[in-house]
Amino acid sequence: MKPWCLLLLLLGLSWTQASGHDYRDALAKSILFFEGQRSGKLPPEQRAQWRGDSALSDGSEAGVDLTGGYYDAGDNVKFGFPMAFTTTMLSWSVVEFGELMPAEELQNAAVAIRWATDYLLKTVSHPGLVFVQVGNPVRDHSCWERPEDMDTARTVYSVSAERPGSEVVAETAAALAAASMVFRDDDPDYSRELLENAVRAFEFADTYKGAYSDDPGLKAGVCPFYCDFDGYQDELLWGAAWLRRASQNDSFLSYIQNNGKTLGADDNINEFGWDNKHAGLNVLVSKEFIEGQVLSLESYKDFADSFMCTLIPESSSSHIQYTPGGLLYKPGGSNMQHVTSISFLLLTYAKYLSKSSQTVNCGSIQVGPASLQLQAKKQIDYILGDNPMKMSHMVGYGDRYPERIHHRASSLPSVSSHPQFIACKDGSDYYKSPDPNPNPQIGAVVGGPGDDDIYEDDRADFRKSEPTTYINAPLVGALAYFVANPDAGLVLT
Ligand SMILES: *[C@@H]1O[C@H](CO)[C@@H](O)[C@H](O)[C@H]1NC(C)=O
Repeated sequence: MKPWCLLLLLLGLSWTQASGHDYRDALAKSILFFEGQRSGKLPPEQRAQWRGDSALSDGSEAGVDLTGGYYDAGDNVKFGFPMAFTTTMLSWSVVEFGELMPAEELQNAAVAIRWATDYLLKTVSHPGLVFVQVGNPVRDHSCWERPEDMDTARTVYSVSAERPGSEVVAETAAALAAASMVFRDDDPDYSRELLENAVRAFEFADTYKGAYSDDPGLKAGVCPFYCDFDGYQDELLWGAAWLRRASQNDSFLSYIQNNGKTLGADDNINEFGWDNKHAGLNVLVSKEFIEGQVLSLESYKDFADSFMCTLIPESSSSHIQYTPGGLLYKPGGSNMQHVTSISFLLLTYAKYLSKSSQTVNCGSIQVGPASLQLQAKKQIDYILGDNPMKMSHMVGYGDRYPERIHHRASSLPSVSSHPQFIACKDGSDYYKSPDPNPNPQIGAVVGGPGDDDIYEDDRADFRKSEPTTYINAPLVGALAYFVANPDAGLVLT
């Protein structure tokens, strides 16, 4: 560290003036993004005016109302599994860091969550069935079409006792339970409704155990997009953990204690995303151990510690991969989903530890919360522009940002500027156009650069240029933290 940096820190001067990130602006945009992903009838308060009503008959094929909810990414399918995970993470963002948000953004975040939970409540409101997806993804992906024009099959997919889908139903339970905490003070009736439905959904997921992609009919609809690749067991524990957190009911703690082993809690898998909950589960459950209440949960802290150690350069454990520019990197496309979810876990774990004056045990060294916060800050600042390309990876944030994202609604003219129908294949000209998207999907964070830090801004390269709701959801919490703590990790403590 240069001596003058040290001086700045000792004087308590703001580091943000040096790096110049406007976390508040980024937070507002990260939430606004969800309006551009909306499906269904848009309300008068809709701020993303380039969007219109869409998919107003969703569910009619099955004789039910399944309008609303979110498109997962740059297409027009409503995939229940990632939508539920998105909702869980948006809610967790507010549960941990909502009190740090400016009041207006806390309100916007609650609206974004409710847009999802209103839909998820519809999916669990029919006895014996849970609706898990609307839209035939193969048909949808063969078109480049605005959601407002969409004329592909809106196939309705459901799970039941005969065709179980414990991953998606338990994730839905987690989402409803986490969201119930968000609305507890301001709308207790809605909060109670969410929690009651969470309990019922969890019982359904646990009673009828199975993976939805094991059923041939469902598999054709959910795979390869959101196949359950690694089993439903982690979601059962995750759902129970959220029910425990939201209700404080001991029966869910007993569930975790009694079923942890058989459901793979000891697998120590260092992953966290829409399909794999392990690292998030370990952080979430370890809270009760860290707070000194439930000693039997110690192994969750051990696993959470060992995950954190893979992110700390000074630790001797084997490390996660980073690009030369310092971005956390996992192969497979849409890398930013890992960056934002892991940054969120770093900040959340740091919060739990610092409240109880504890540290991460990395064998030969003990790592304090500030180190975790510093790692998260590096990742978030990379997203916002501190990177070799010197560009932001959030649409509309900073001076340079992605302009050709892989996103149908954003890349086609809006219905208000071009009311004429644009058919399935007629969108191709817009898809191939070298021009920037006509409707910037403000706040969208793209899949991100390759392992060489290069980002080409190529609409066809969906692995890099497609945004997803589950990239943004944990980012909302991380940005809220940095709004209130712009110098986190840099302050000498
Ligand atoms: C705790 O949850 C279980 C299972 O849902 C339920 O049977 C029980 O009534 C709950 N206890 C309380 C105190 O709410």
